[in-house]
This record gives sequence, C-alpha cells and structure tokens, in this order.
Amino acid sequence: MTVFFSYESNLMNKKETILTGDRPTGKLHVGHYIGSLKNRVQLQKTCNQFVMIADVQALTDNFEDPQKVHDSVFQVMCDYLAVGIDPAQTTIFIQSMIPAIPELTLYYMNLVTVARLSRNPTVKAEIKQKGMEESLPVGFFTYPINQAADITAFKATLVPVGEDQLPMIEQTNEIVRSFNRIYKKEVLVEAKGLLPVLGKRLVGIDGQAKMSKSLNNAIYLSDSLDELSKKVRSMYTDPNHLRVEDPGKVEGNPVFDYLDLFATDTHKVQELKDHYARGGLGDMVVKKYLLEVLEAFISPIRERRKLYEHDRAQVMQILLEGTKRAALVAQQTLAEVKEAMHLNYQK
Ligand code: TRP
Repeated sequence: MTVFFSYESNLMNKKETILTGDRPTGKLHVGHYIGSLKNRVQLQKTCNQFVMIADVQALTDNFEDPQKVHDSVFQVMCDYLAVGIDPAQTTIFIQSMIPAIPELTLYYMNLVTVARLSRNPTVKAEIKQKGMEESLPVGFFTYPINQAADITAFKATLVPVGEDQLPMIEQTNEIVRSFNRIYKKEVLVEAKGLLPVLGKRLVGIDGQAKMSKSLNNAIYLSDSLDELSKKVRSMYTDPNHLRVEDPGKVEGNPVFDYLDLFATDTHKVQELKDHYARGGLGDMVVKKYLLEVLEAFISPIRERRKLYEHDRAQVMQILLEGTKRAALVAQQTLAEVKEAMHLNYQK
C-alpha cells in the first residue's frame, strides 16, 4: 500500500514537545476536528508531537464496557490517519501500554489533596453529568493525576486541548512545581494549554453547546453522504424563522456556525447571512449549501479512512511502533523521577 509512511527522526530541531490525546469511546466527529485534530495536523510540522489514545482514562467512566473501549482504539486511530496525523511526524500510542504512566500516577498521588481534586471544575461537571455523586469511583475522581502523568511523562511543553481541559493542565503544573520543589531537582516540566485557533466550539446539530456522542448530536468524520444529509436536514436553526419571507437570526444559528467553520467561500456565506437576516431565504436552501460544504470536507477523509479500516493489521502495526517509541521516552522520565525520589537502589 502507498498510503503509509516510514518514520524518520527529524525531532532534533523541533522545539516544543506536545502531548495530547482522546478517550477512545467511539469514532471521532467534526467537533474533534475543529477542537483539536486540525491543530495537531499543523503542529506536527514544527513540534515534537505525541498523540495518545487514552484507553486507561476511557475506562475510568466506561469500565463496564471494555469491548467498546478496545474497538474504539482502532477506530480513533483510523480517524487520526484519515485527517492527516502523520505517523512519520507524530508518535501515536496506546496509553495502557506505557507502564511508566501508572507508576508516575502513584507517586504524584502523594502531592495532591482530596480537597484539591474535589475543586477541579471539569471533574465536578463530569460527576454531575454522569450521575456519579452517590458512588464516585476513586479511579474517576483521580483521573486528573493520571492525566498529569500522561503529560509529564513526555515532558510536554504544549497541550492542545479544548477549554474544558485547562483545569487538568493547571493541576499538572501544580504537581510539577511540588515535585521539583520537594525532591529538589528540576525533573518535571510545566506545560501550557493551547486552545483551538478559532476559540469557538462546534455546537451539536441540535444547537446544544457541545457536540457529543452521548448527546446523539454529532456528525462523524466517517459519516456516509446519506447519514450526513439526514443530519444536515434535521439541523436546528432559528426556531422563529417559520416562513421563508420572515427575517431569520444568523447569530447562534448552528447552520451558519458550521458554514463559518467549514466553508471556504466566505463571500458566499456573507451573502447567505445577509439574505437570511433580511428574509426571503429558506432554511432548506442554506442547508443544501451546508451539505455541499460538509461533503466536500468529509468525503476525502471518508475515502482515506476506508483504506485504513480495511488494513487493520498495518494500522495496528503503526500504532504499536509508536507505542514502543513512546514507552522509551516515558521510561526515561520515570527513571529521573525515581532517582530524584531516592528510589534508586541499583546504581
Ligand atoms: N481528558 C482528555 C479528554 O477527555 C483526554 C486526555 C487524556 C488528554 N490524557 C490527556 C488530553 C493528556 C491531553 C493531554 O478529551
């Protein structure tokens, strides 16, 4: 096959180190693309980038569904390759195959208080959303510490994420500072969060603030034209735009939000917006154009994705090779951490 690449180490002159990742709980959607995948495709050219498929973290709220997490690892990998994350430039790996990460997590647990974890706004919101208030698993409660281990194991300086992940980076940096102070060595490195260029999150097709699998309001990078067209047709628009003649609202109208993010012809989008606001432009006309725009974006991704999906063995091999490289890097950090903590008995 010609779609694969060989790894060449050109990391020496790349200044920033990136660590980022996704929980494998399903296929990735266009919200992931806008929120982080797009950034990663750009950043891999200039940074030393690690992308982690966070199966261990996915289990913290899906431990009863290991098959889903297992199957999603391959699906997420196909999504990564299809959008252009290039294994020759980015080290892609599986979290559960890096034994240094849980070991680091254990050491960091001494440096974080229960009170501090309880204040983490992301975890707080997730606990509420998942109805875990009554019986909160320790594993889920402590996942920010595990995430700090992910980030620091690679001495990442940049973590491209959505806004909801910023508290994780704050928590990570607190651990870094405590560790370096207590163990009197600058072993760990602080990281900066990097938000999506547009700073705008893609809303769901139902107009809800977040596109997500569990809300059933997502457009997947793997959607067929048929699925895509059904979803676009059912999209939420301005509920008060009842007749074609009525003036419609552009602001906060998901159809126009999507056009802003995916259409290349900004002139045409502006014309449609003006016409819609004036009245006389039906939702169906705008949706028909949006379908064209989204299909132009998704169809090459969908085609490439099919190739990867049909070549499971080779895709998994690439992932396992990345994992081997990642394990070595994390192992090195762990050795420095243990040295600083006086856990060095074999000199
Ligand atoms: N928590 C992230 C999410 O839910 C996934 C993740 C795990 C991650 N470890 C990470 C992201 C380290 C950035 C860095 O999307």
